[in-house]
Amino acid sequence: MNEKYKESMLKEDALIDKVVVITGGGTGLGKSMAKYFLGIGAKVVITSRKLAVLEETVKELSEQTGGEIFAVECDVRKYEQIENLLAKSIEKFGKVNVLVNNAAGNFITPTERLSHRAFDIITDIVLKGTYYNTLAFGKYWIKEKMDATVLNIVTTYAWTGSAFVVPSASAKAGVLALTRSLAVEWAKYGIRFNAIAPGPFPTKGAWDRLFPEDLKDLLNVEKKIPLGRVGDHQELANLAAYLVSDYSAFMNGEVVTLDGGEWLKGAGEFNMLESIPMEMWDEIEKGIRGKK
Ligand code: HXC
Ligand code: NAP
Repeated sequence: MNEKYKESMLKEDALIDKVVVITGGGTGLGKSMAKYFLGIGAKVVITSRKLAVLEETVKELSEQTGGEIFAVECDVRKYEQIENLLAKSIEKFGKVNVLVNNAAGNFITPTERLSHRAFDIITDIVLKGTYYNTLAFGKYWIKEKMDATVLNIVTTYAWTGSAFVVPSASAKAGVLALTRSLAVEWAKYGIRFNAIAPGPFPTKGAWDRLFPEDLKDLLNVEKKIPLGRVGDHQELANLAAYLVSDYSAFMNGEVVTLDGGEWLKGAGEFNMLESIPMEMWDEIEKGIRGKK
């Protein structure tokens, strides 16, 4: 099979004038985006709660790419820490013109088992973290009259909802609404907003909490995806790089699904007919035509 999607897509200097802040950038998809953005010229600030993890990633990615990357500890639920993140990023690189709201918290559980605090924890990271960051960075861009781009990482259940991840689904739906609302409201300031809704992309963070080993057979993700495979980090990084670059200058308020057709397979009324062998269709058709 052609595996072009595992390769870099944009020109080597596609993000040359960009300073990008990625929340949750020390691990998983945030780290993969950071690596690719550095490879195509961006300066990158990664941030999360665990400074040791961030510093390890800074070391690894600067060795691998030779790019300029910097870590700032920040809990996205604390507005004053976000103000510090912004100040430190400007101090280091002179400006910030891209924000990627990628940090998240999530786990599977029946909703009735949740404490109210657990619900708050998830929605505070995902929704409040996103609007706190967006507000702090937005005020700075508006004051400085700077063009800027925000990329929000949501999920496909932001619009379908999903049982067993209710706090995450509620919060991601809010992030999608925020994306579309501010795409209109802040376009006048030259600030664009877009989102990516990934299907399953293997990461330790997601797999430990959402696809535990004990439920391996039940949660067989490849089987749920029409294209028969999970996502590759590079293909998400390619899309993210395009969305934060000036190549996507006319794209605003969009959410791009990258899931191999997974959510539509779950949604289509007759999609389960895929399991019927082709040779049975003569018989089925005869039966249907016979009813005339
Ligand atoms: C029920 C749970 C629980 C569980 C934690 N809690 N785990 N309740 N079932 N499995 C409860 C705790 O009892 C506590 O409530 C509250 O949640 C907070 O838990 P803490 O451990 O104190 O919080 P903290 O250390 O801040 O950890 C936050 C976290 C953790 C969200 C719980 O999972 C985390 O750090 N996650 C970050 C990374 C992550 O989640 N990545 C996955 C992203 S994937 P009480 O009331 O007892 O105090 C994703 C989309 C995937 O988002 C889509 C796939 C297709
Ligand atoms: P991940 O590696 O666990 O990433 C989550 C990151 O968020 C971690 O780096 C974590 O770092 C950070 N974080 C959590 N709470 C934070 C807080 N309060 N403040 C600052 N940072 C915080 O998981 P991932 O799979 O790469 O997920 C990345 C994004 O993709 C998330 O938005 C997720 O919802 C989305 N997504 C993933 C998938 C998938 O299949 N992987 C599918 C759909 C959507 P610290 O613990 O150091 O804070």
